Amino acid sequence: MELGTTLLACFILALVIKLSRTAPKGQLPPGPKGLPLVGNILDLSLKELWLSIAKWARNYGDIVYIHVFGTGLVFLNDAEVAVDLMDRKGSIYSDRPHLVMAGELCGGYNIMSFTGYNDQFRRQRRLMQRALTPLVIKNYHPLLEMETVPFLKRLLSKPESYVDHIRRYAGTLTLNVIYGHQVTSDDDRCLKIAEACADVLANDIAGGGFLWLVDVLPFLRHLPMWAPGSGFKHKAIRWKAQLTEFATVPYDEFKEKMENGTAKTCYCSTLVEAAGKSMTEQDEFDIKYSANTMYSASLDTTITVVTSFMLCMVQNPDVRMKAQAEIDRVVGKDRLPDFNDRPSLPYLECILSEVLRWTAPVPYALPHRLMEDDVYRNYFIPKGSFVFANIWSMTRNQEMYPNADAFSPERFEADLDEELKKKRDPKNFVFGFGRRRCPGMYLAEQSTWLLIASMLAALDIQKAVDDKGNVIEPQVRYENSVFRMPAPFKMDIRPREHARRLMNL
Ligand code: HEM
Ligand SMILES: *[C@@H]1O[C@H](CO)[C@@H](O)[C@H](O)[C@H]1NC(C)=O
Repeated sequence: MELGTTLLACFILALVIKLSRTAPKGQLPPGPKGLPLVGNILDLSLKELWLSIAKWARNYGDIVYIHVFGTGLVFLNDAEVAVDLMDRKGSIYSDRPHLVMAGELCGGYNIMSFTGYNDQFRRQRRLMQRALTPLVIKNYHPLLEMETVPFLKRLLSKPESYVDHIRRYAGTLTLNVIYGHQVTSDDDRCLKIAEACADVLANDIAGGGFLWLVDVLPFLRHLPMWAPGSGFKHKAIRWKAQLTEFATVPYDEFKEKMENGTAKTCYCSTLVEAAGKSMTEQDEFDIKYSANTMYSASLDTTITVVTSFMLCMVQNPDVRMKAQAEIDRVVGKDRLPDFNDRPSLPYLECILSEVLRWTAPVPYALPHRLMEDDVYRNYFIPKGSFVFANIWSMTRNQEMYPNADAFSPERFEADLDEELKKKRDPKNFVFGFGRRRCPGMYLAEQSTWLLIASMLAALDIQKAVDDKGNVIEPQVRYENSVFRMPAPFKMDIRPREHARRLMNL
């Protein structure tokens, strides 16, 4: 499971026919009329669904309600509304859809992004927040900086496999920052287990969009192992064992290093040291599984942001050259940029903001399940609804971002008063809202900054040219339904002259 498949799951789970539908206890928010019983199922094109949602937002306003077989899907199209509900009413807006097969039987509930709003979730969230503040992340900077040049070299050696390189980068970076585990070869045991698990989650457990018969008919979970039709239980046992191994192997290795005094400062060491001698079994479980959560959560998001950045550079060579001029002036050509350079590179900062805004990497975030009936602006929102922050529409708000579809870092250069500047910061919404907001946001933001800075300093990324010298326009297609991830496109990636020297190419 890469994190976002949860969303798909929610659509599918919504198909579960509710035999006991009751009439709503008030006026529901507006939305497109669906069919009787099945509701708006035909409106849910999985391709670029954010475009349909944005159309509803334009037609019906800040809050839109549709339903599928009676389960409400609520879209919050405005940042203030999303804060009012997901943040201010966080105590009832922070659950996730319930998943019997993926969550309960396969052990997915140990992975925090899937867990309901319970004690385990709250404990693990707290740990993540503590070990992923901007201040703590400073300690991880050397680890982040270590992964950059190897990534650039892999990218240059086989540019057409750029997606694989970014995935590998995200994976090795995460193992490093979370466990202090440094991947040195393709055969690395931790990396292999991690990649196999990401695959099991995405392609086996979530293979049918998470729809398992047992999710529709939960009593099947009691089927005996020898009974016909119990194949899913055998699979679940196997996959759960695999996921458990994935959580255990890198953590145990980290602990050994802790004991023999060779551990590096990383997420786990920060928390184990903080817990000290009084660490309980539960503390350890929480550290282990919160660590485990982050691997799958960082893959698709990183791939989405970095490939989108590359697309923006291909389509906007003037932006690339302006950024390279800034870097050359500030950093020079005798080294690559590092975190100390960040305050002196204002244009690069604008590029990062614009990449996050323009991309809207997770356009409608992940579903929050509403735990109690709620009333907002005279609208009735039924318990059990899946509530989505419509991040896409927020990034395309024409008042805040004139000509919003254009990629233009300059929009963040303009002198704005402090308050407006704060309000326009895309980091306010691209990471979601409330108690489920991305806990990796500072890490993501910083590692993305470093990667963008290094790529600009070292590489020219531009339109490819075919044998006959014709420029190839990149084909932009979005096929993933949860991440706004550009499908692979053609481009030309080559090292800048001084970078050859710096990287010993
Ligand atoms: C630029 C990259 C990233 C973006 C845009 C992003 C965005 C998001 C969004 C929109 C959500 C859903 C929030 C919600 O439900 O309201 C989320 C959840 C999450 N993200 Fe990120 N993310 C990024 C990178 C990362 C990284 C690198 C990590 C790990 C270190 C991470 C860890 C998580 C976790 C654990 C959750 C689940 C939180 C929960 O269920 O409470 N993310 N992210
Ligand atoms: C410490 O433990 C790690 C992890 O098992 C191991 O790789 C390393 O060689 C050990 N170092 C020493 C000095 O014992």
